[in-house]
Amino acid sequence: PKCDIGFIGLGVMGANLTLNLVDHGFRVACFDLDQTKVDAIIAKDEEERGDSPARVEGCSSYTELLSKLKSPHMVILSVPAGEPVDHVCSHLIDAGIQADDIVVDTGNSLWTDSVEREEKYKSKFIFFSTAVSGGEVGARFGPSLMPSGNPYAWTRLEPILKAISAKVDAQSGLPIESFTPGEPVTEGEPCATYIGPVGAGHYVKMVHNGIEYADMQLICETYQVMRTALHMSAAEIAEVFRRWNKGKLNSYLIEISAEVLEQLDPETGVPLVDVILDKAGQKGTGLWTAVSALQVGSPAQTITSAVFARSLSSLKDERVAASKVLRGPDVKPLSDEEKFAAIDKLEYALYCSKICAYAQGFQLMAVASKEHGWELDFGGIAKIWRAGCIIRAVFLQSIAKAYENNEELANLLLDPFFAEQITEYQSDWRESLAQAALAGIPCPAMMSALSYYDSYRTAVLPANLLQGQRDYFGAHTYQRVDKPAGKKFHLDWSDPARPQVAIKK
Ligand code: 6PG
Repeated sequence: PKCDIGFIGLGVMGANLTLNLVDHGFRVACFDLDQTKVDAIIAKDEEERGDSPARVEGCSSYTELLSKLKSPHMVILSVPAGEPVDHVCSHLIDAGIQADDIVVDTGNSLWTDSVEREEKYKSKFIFFSTAVSGGEVGARFGPSLMPSGNPYAWTRLEPILKAISAKVDAQSGLPIESFTPGEPVTEGEPCATYIGPVGAGHYVKMVHNGIEYADMQLICETYQVMRTALHMSAAEIAEVFRRWNKGKLNSYLIEISAEVLEQLDPETGVPLVDVILDKAGQKGTGLWTAVSALQVGSPAQTITSAVFARSLSSLKDERVAASKVLRGPDVKPLSDEEKFAAIDKLEYALYCSKICAYAQGFQLMAVASKEHGWELDFGGIAKIWRAGCIIRAVFLQSIAKAYENNEELANLLLDPFFAEQITEYQSDWRESLAQAALAGIPCPAMMSALSYYDSYRTAVLPANLLQGQRDYFGAHTYQRVDKPAGKKFHLDWSDPARPQVAIKK
C-alpha cells in the first residue's frame, strides 16, 4: 500500500517523529541524504514492531519518496532551520511535487522565513509550518505542536498532528504520558492547536523558547545563590529542587535540573555539574525573541537578560581574569537557621520571577498578534504548553484559566490570581534579591523580573525627566499631563529669559 506521509530528515528529532507517526498507525516513507539514517529507521521499526508488517519504507531519492505516497502528497521535513529547508523544497519541486501537495516544516525556523516560503512556493505546493517542542522524548512520545498556515492544509493535517501530540488531562492540566513504544496515549486533550496564518506558529514557538531561556536562567540563578551564598552541594540543591517540584514550581525544567544535579561524572565520580564548563551555548531562538521584543517595543527584560546571561557566560577567560581584579562585597557567613529561611524565600523569588517572564512572553505575543492580525488565542496557547514541551508546568493551567476568564487580559500580572500571588510572596522575592545583591551574587534575570514588576505597577515613571532631556538637546518635544494626549510641546532651552528655579550659589 501507498504511504500516508513522506518524512525527510532523519536526525534524532526526525527519526523520533517518524516512530511516533507509525505508532499512531500512519505508514511513512522516509528519506535522508545520509542513507545510514534511512537504514537505521528501518532497523528501529523492525525492532519495535516485532512480527507485524513494516510501517516505514526507506527511499533513496526525493522522486522515490513522492512515488510511494498517496495523492495528494503530504511531506514532513525535519531538517536544520535556514537554507536546508529551501534546499529540500527545491528538490521536491524537481521531483514533481504538485500544487495541492503539502510540505510541513517542523524545524526551529525563523517565523519570517515561513511567511516568505509560503509565498515563494505557492504555485508549486502548499508550504505549512508546525513548530515542535519537547526535545527527543517529546518527538518520540508526544510533543507540543504549534501548527500554522493554509487552513485547508490544516484540515488535512489536524488528525495526524493531534494524534502524535502530547496529551493532557483537561481537569488537572497534567500530562498523560506513556513512554512505551507501540503503546501511545490516545485519550486526553491534544497539545496541538491551529495557531493562525503561516508564521504565527513559529513566532509562538520562538516566544516559547524565549520563555524557556528565561525559565532556565532563573532556575540557574537560584542554584548559584544556593551554591555560592549558602555553600550547598549539588546533591543538597537537587533535594531542594525535588521539594520545589512538589509545589507551585512543579515543572519539567525543575525536575530535570534536579536530575542534572544528582548525576555523577562516570569518569571521576564527582557531581557531573561540577565538571561541566560554565559557558552556555545558544542556537538563536532566544535571541530572535529578544530582537523581536526590542523591535515591537514590548518589554521583555527577563528574556533578554537570559540571552545576555548566556553571552556573558561565554566570556569565560575574561571573567576568570576579572575575578582576580574586581572586588565584591565582604560577606558574613549565615547561620543554619538563616540558610533554611533563605532557601524558603528563594522558592518564592523564583516563582514570582517566573510569573513575570511568562507575562513578558504573553505580552510580546499579544503585541505581535495585533501587529500581524493573527488573532492569537492565548488560553489555547497556554493549554498546548501544558504537556510535551520544555516549559511544561503545572502553572500553565493557571495561565490558561487567566485567559479563559478574560480574553482581553492586557498582562498576566493583572489576572486576579497572579496579582494576588505576587502580593503574597513579594516580600520573599525582594528579600532574596536584596541578600543576593549584598552577597555580590549575579541574578540578572531575577532582578530584571522584579524591575519589570515594579515598573509595570508604577503610575509615574521618570520618563518625564527623560523627555525633558531629549527636548533639551534635540528638540524632540514632550507631551504635558495637563494637555490633551498627543499634543507636542517644545521649550526654547537656550532662551536666557525662560523661567527657572533660582539656584542658591
Ligand atoms: C524545545 C526546545 C528546542 C531546542 C532549542 C534549544 O522546545 O524543544 O526549545 O527547540 O532545545 O533549540 O535552543 P538553544 O540551543 O538555543 O538553547
